[in-house]
Amino acid sequence: MKAIAVYPGKAGSAHMADIPEPSLEDIPGERGVRVKVLAVGLDGTDVEINAAEYGAAPEGSDFLVLGHEGFGVVEEVGKRVTELSRGDYVVAIVRQPRGNSIYDRIDMADMTTDDTYFEHGISRVHGFLTEQYVESADHLVKIPKELRDVGVLLEPTTIIEKGITQAYEIQRRLKVWRPKRAAVLGAGTVGLLATMGLLLRGLEVVTAGLDEPPYLNSDLVEAIGAHYINTKVVSLEEAARDHGPFDIIFEATGYSPIVFEAMQHLGKNGVLVLSSVTGGDRKAEVPADAINLDFVLGNKVMVGTVNANRENFELGVRDMALAEYQYPGWLARLLTDRVDGLSSCPRAFELLGSEGVIKVYVQVAPFDD
Ligand code: BGC
Ligand code: ZN
Repeated sequence: MKAIAVYPGKAGSAHMADIPEPSLEDIPGERGVRVKVLAVGLDGTDVEINAAEYGAAPEGSDFLVLGHEGFGVVEEVGKRVTELSRGDYVVAIVRQPRGNSIYDRIDMADMTTDDTYFEHGISRVHGFLTEQYVESADHLVKIPKELRDVGVLLEPTTIIEKGITQAYEIQRRLKVWRPKRAAVLGAGTVGLLATMGLLLRGLEVVTAGLDEPPYLNSDLVEAIGAHYINTKVVSLEEAARDHGPFDIIFEATGYSPIVFEAMQHLGKNGVLVLSSVTGGDRKAEVPADAINLDFVLGNKVMVGTVNANRENFELGVRDMALAEYQYPGWLARLLTDRVDGLSSCPRAFELLGSEGVIKVYVQVAPFDD
């Protein structure tokens, strides 16, 4: 069957490959599920992998099948699978608990302390840019059919669910925490979804982007009741003065120096959530004493967050359903660019990062109505 693969470490190596069909027997305990791939979203991580800045092939393979934002339909299940059946829509959890840390053993591989990690389409496990895959039912999450058309947005939604959940978990240190105001840095897919997730929890949200409004992303921010600011015109300091103090700042710009600025404009007892995977080697000079003093005197927290576990996926499904109810049609507006068929992948890569593009996805196979 066809697949889009790269040779990790070799820049620009994305190509159409022919790989063997997986078998239900690949999964032990008769827990295998055969999933027909319907749609796969792409993001900056795929670009970095194709640029040879990131990514690893599975052991014994010289190539890696790309794609970690999958959406598919169940075709066949093993004898011991009772929670899924043919025709169910599913999304696979990206990271697999194959490491040795205690977190792998309790199905929280997103918190692994191992140096190596196993992620579909990213690290040591093939991804979903192919016709079908076989995965254990333990690592699949069922998607209601009402969310079918936006199901491909679940994986990026799980990233913000984990980050926001981490913030609330950490704040249990305070006997009472009623966050009121949040800032989201970045207005790309993750920034927009974080804006949604924070609004759904009742916060007032300011979302900062680099572009002059109005444009699609600023429209999307304002359409659900958040406030858009252009950081070329309004500084974070001014934003904090006018819209803060910020109980949460969610960083999703991909630009690491902004972290130190965000540290300076976080409210007392606040949480700064960092979600950008920055593979470069950027340096920044910062007012270290002032930042440190503020953090100490303000009892502030900064937390890094990566990947997502099953709970975050399930919460993502619920928030997407709630979003469809409260903001009908909003999620679909994030799906700006669709290409049809695996053979259109080069076009999808060209679109990534182009003006006006939010989420690019490949419709691998048509939905059967
Ligand atoms: C993916 C995450 C993954 C992270 C680091 C992101 O693009 O969405 O699932 O953990 O990259 O590899
Ligand atoms: Zn991703």
